[in-house]
Amino acid sequence: MNAVMYTKYGPPNVLKMVDIEKPQPRDHEVLVKIYAATVTSGDVRLRSSNFPPLFWLPARLIFGLFKPKKRILGHELSGIVEAVGKEVTKFKIGDEVFATTTMLKTGSYAEYICLPQERKKGVLGLKPKNLSFKEATALPVGGMTALFLLNKANLSKGQQVLIYGASGSVGSYAIQIAKEKEATVVAVCSSSNVDMVKSLGADSAIDYKKEDYSLIEKKFDIVCDAVGKTSKSKAKKILKQGGNFVSVNTLTSVKEEHLNTIKELAEKQKIRPYIDKCFQLSEIVAAHAYVDKERKKGNVVIEITH
Ligand SMILES: NC(=O)c1ccc[n+]([C@@H]2O[C@H](COP(=O)([O-])OP(=O)(O)OC[C@H]3O[C@@H](n4cnc5c(N)ncnc54)[C@H](OP(=O)(O)O)[C@@H]3O)[C@@H](O)[C@H]2O)c1
Repeated sequence: MNAVMYTKYGPPNVLKMVDIEKPQPRDHEVLVKIYAATVTSGDVRLRSSNFPPLFWLPARLIFGLFKPKKRILGHELSGIVEAVGKEVTKFKIGDEVFATTTMLKTGSYAEYICLPQERKKGVLGLKPKNLSFKEATALPVGGMTALFLLNKANLSKGQQVLIYGASGSVGSYAIQIAKEKEATVVAVCSSSNVDMVKSLGADSAIDYKKEDYSLIEKKFDIVCDAVGKTSKSKAKKILKQGGNFVSVNTLTSVKEEHLNTIKELAEKQKIRPYIDKCFQLSEIVAAHAYVDKERKKGNVVIEITH
């Protein structure tokens, strides 16, 4: 099968197309024929080993000290179950699925992947019926992270919510999840992304290049840093008493129930993935170079044709 591998950390061109053996599912695994994957900010961080100084050594110990332990990158996917191991009860051949392997396993830049039907880390579920493979693949990481953060902030009906970095993947879902709870949403993004965030439901926008959001008069129940580029001390200035600050810079945990909630919200048309660009697997170097710029809007999808 075709796959994209990297054997050393570095710029996008460390990613190479290779022809490797198609995997075979073990008893508790399903074999998924992958139709779409994504390039997330996490993928480019892994590839370039771009970890904050404090986390650099622990991250290298986890992901590979001298070279990457997992040689196939990519941690979101959608596709069709092609075979199942004999202990698999939750999925059958032909099921359309979507998943995240998490950054610890990765492996979605390939034509096939074997995934356990249940995992402690990473989740696999039936794809939202109303989404294409290219749309569904862009849901798990951004969608579940936004859901986790807003749950942690005790999002409730009709609140005032400010989303910092609203034009990224996590931000694009955070807007929609907050709107589903009838919140009033102020999105912080650059002027070129105002139309995008409003199309996702934001009530108003602040251009972070022209205005300091922490100096506005309005007070919020929640400030959600969806891009990891603001701080609690700054957010505090506009939080109501008892208001909550949450950030992507904290550890999030991925649970099956979160994937189910995301699927339901998509099927009820309460959330939809915003897709910025779509590349073929053979264009993976260009796709990584694009995401490296940290300017992507929503999600970047990799189409895998067989
Ligand atoms: N903790 C977790 O489990 C978890 C999960 C997912 C993601 N993350 C982390 O969350 C972060 C965001 O990931 P993502 O994929 O959602 O984002 P992303 O798509 O990579 O973010 C890109 C967007 O951020 C905007 N942006 C860049 N710098 C900004 C700034 N200083 N202020 C406001 N907006 C800015 C850009 O818009 P402009 O062009 O307008 O600047 C662009 O639209 C990454 O660091 C990622 O590693 C963490």
